[in-house]
Amino acid sequence: MSSLYIAPSILSADFSHIEDEVTKAREAGAEYIHLDVMDGAFVPNKTFGPDLVARIAPYCGDMVKDTHLMVFDPLDVAEGFIKEGSDLITFHYEALESDQSRFHCIHELKKRGVKVGMSIKPNTPVTVLDPFLAELDLVLVMSVEPGKGGQSFIPESLEKIAYLRKKIDSLQRNIRLEVDGGINDQTAKACVEAGADTLVAGSYLYGHEDFALRVEALRK
Ligand code: DX5
Ligand code: ZN
Repeated sequence: MSSLYIAPSILSADFSHIEDEVTKAREAGAEYIHLDVMDGAFVPNKTFGPDLVARIAPYCGDMVKDTHLMVFDPLDVAEGFIKEGSDLITFHYEALESDQSRFHCIHELKKRGVKVGMSIKPNTPVTVLDPFLAELDLVLVMSVEPGKGGQSFIPESLEKIAYLRKKIDSLQRNIRLEVDGGINDQTAKACVEAGADTLVAGSYLYGHEDFALRVEALRK
């Protein structure tokens, strides 16, 4: 398994000082910066558009701009984010209706030169990802219902992680296994033991003085 990546989610950051909040993640050694894009339709809330990526890009350094699209029409929405510098686009399995459209989305995103991930919501069986694993760069297990930060980790997510770890290892492909929702020092440990290699954390990190120490705690 590859080394652990930490992906602070700016959803819980102070947007009036977003440059400082991104800098905090970079200085704490985060490998990814997690950007939650919501359209008010796939999930009830709305967040930001591509202009936010343009604004934070100068502060990201080597952090991968890990863009989590909680939207219908992921391909259309991705366009602007890619233009402004998103490196990795993750869309939801549930956002599209057929495997044909999901494959199309993966292929079109790859043509635009970004890495591609697919995510599943808590009620979606993990096996739906099987046909896509040969083409994805990342799979994202949602361990809370997507839409907002600060919710509690759903323990059944661990079985999904363990299933995907086995699959990924048997494929011998370089696919990151990311988990998002309710991550703190305790749930992080359980996720890593189950096989996750990329941890998204929002409310556990942002709004706390000891941000960098908390990033370290996630790694332990
Ligand atoms: C939720 C988002 C998450 C969110 C996680 O829909 O996808 O990335 O920021 O927040 P916490 O870590 O607070 O559960
Ligand atoms: Zn997210």
